Amino acid sequence: MTNQIPEITLHDGLQIPSVGFGTYKLKGESGAQAINHAIANGYRLLDSAYNYENEATVGEAIRRSSVPREELLVTSKLPGRYHHYDDAIVTIQESLLRANLDYYDLYLIHWPNPIQDNYVEAWQALIDAKKFGYIRSIGVCNFLPEHLERLKKETGILPTVNQIELHPLFNQEEQLKFHEEHHIATESWSPLSRASDLLRDETLQKIADQHNRTISQIILRWHYQLGAIAIPKSAAPSRQKENISIFDFELSEEEMTIINSLTKQDGRLKDQDPAVYEEF
Ligand SMILES: NC(=O)c1ccc[n+]([C@@H]2O[C@H](COP(=O)([O-])OP(=O)(O)OC[C@H]3O[C@@H](n4cnc5c(N)ncnc54)[C@H](OP(=O)(O)O)[C@@H]3O)[C@@H](O)[C@H]2O)c1
Repeated sequence: MTNQIPEITLHDGLQIPSVGFGTYKLKGESGAQAINHAIANGYRLLDSAYNYENEATVGEAIRRSSVPREELLVTSKLPGRYHHYDDAIVTIQESLLRANLDYYDLYLIHWPNPIQDNYVEAWQALIDAKKFGYIRSIGVCNFLPEHLERLKKETGILPTVNQIELHPLFNQEEQLKFHEEHHIATESWSPLSRASDLLRDETLQKIADQHNRTISQIILRWHYQLGAIAIPKSAAPSRQKENISIFDFELSEEEMTIINSLTKQDGRLKDQDPAVYEEF
């Protein structure tokens, strides 16, 4: 086994790395430098969003990098306030202008906002934006099975990716089963639970010691073995390297079970249940 990042194939045929790089809070000059380091350290999948106000930073990091654009997979996300069709199309164009890119590899609806209830219209805009050549692959974030079922029923097209909150405190077992049954790839946001106390958990430390790894590496390996694409964020080049050095060891079934047992019914970090929580 090597430390090269293995790829997975989405249901539309696009191949993407099984670990990506989160960019929330990476902005401006220090942000561009951190993202540039991440690319140099081997990350090829970059996760940004219109609402992170850093699409320009991501675009600049790509331009400064020696890695060709076509070897990178760049993601952005449609905010809740632009779910109406015409707004969504203009927002995707604006995302491209901000990043100074010709296309995004992945573009996701950021939150379903089911009370507002315009996510099917937003999805139709993403379907068309793909036809216009703005996007290679279309997906969503934070969609519950009921929201995904509705996209299927009303448009016939399911997202390639659903990016959801996923870490050992909230392992989303049922949601992952649904994704698997429908060939939707899972991306894990806040995969390290935003560096919460979990990174000092005694049970995880024991497993880490057994493998001579850090707790972060154990958690990221757990995501990989679950089949989920983690997108850890780190401003520090050393931690960026640490977070992708996970492909030369394996957790046993027993260790996977122990890590899964840390999950809690209300394990969300900020109580952001997509059935009721909305973000604009
Ligand atoms: N779709 C959505 O609704 C949604 C929501 C939230 C996040 N996201 C995406 O998911 C990405 C990742 O989530 P996140 O940024 O919330 O949290 P995260 O990746 O779980 O954790 C980031 C935190 O962990 C620290 N860290 C990283 N690697 C570490 C290591 N090896 N050891 C110790 N600490 C480490 C980072 O500090 P340093 O930077 O100092 O290393 C930072 O404070 C975001 O950046 C964003 O792209 C999406």
